[in-house]
Amino acid sequence: MSYEYEIHTRGDVQGNLFEKLVRFFFESEPHHDQDEAAVSAEAILEGDGNIVLAMGPDGGVVGYGTLTNVSDRGTARMEAAHVHPDHAQRGIYSNLVKLRLEEAQREGAEQVAVNAAHEFQVRFLQRLGFEIVDKYPFSGWELKKCCR
Ligand SMILES: CC(C)(COP(=O)(O)OP(=O)(O)OC[C@H]1O[C@@H](n2cnc3c(N)ncnc32)[C@H](O)[C@@H]1OP(=O)(O)O)[C@@H](O)C(=O)NCCC(=O)NCCS
Repeated sequence: MSYEYEIHTRGDVQGNLFEKLVRFFFESEPHHDQDEAAVSAEAILEGDGNIVLAMGPDGGVVGYGTLTNVSDRGTARMEAAHVHPDHAQRGIYSNLVKLRLEEAQREGAEQVAVNAAHEFQVRFLQRLGFEIVDKYPFSGWELKKCCR
């Protein structure tokens, strides 16, 4: 199955992206009703920075990852990432990370920060050059990679 990737500026989204994200959250989170899916969609479209979307063959969203603007200290942060369970383990998260890294570099970030919830994510990120800088008792690992 092939996927297309799109980069959007959060807060300046065109067309029916909000509806596509509501559908994504409704279908990928079994405990979400329509209202909760709308709250999740709103939450990730708010704020600064970009959102990278993975689109499935039917044009629907199957995954996303967010990236903040570069801070005064030169850091861009990869925030949330989520892939629809029906499309998991096909390299979508990997591509969402790589595209956000490229975007951060294009925007002049000196380093990229990310919080990883799973050990397999840590291993994958380390292969891309990220280093663990902290370990939190309940929320996983903090990793950073220098862009220069
Ligand atoms: C975690 C998540 C983003 C992974 O997405 P994905 O598209 O399935 O991941 P990929 O296919 O790109 O896999 C990336 C690497 O992780 C590994 N991986 C993915 N899911 C895995 C799992 N459940 N268990 C072990 N390894 C896993 C892959 O094998 C791959 O490693 P490789 O490069 O050595 O082959 C997805 O399962 C998800 O959305 N989970 C719920 C939300 C979440 O946990 N988000 C992350 C924190 S923000």
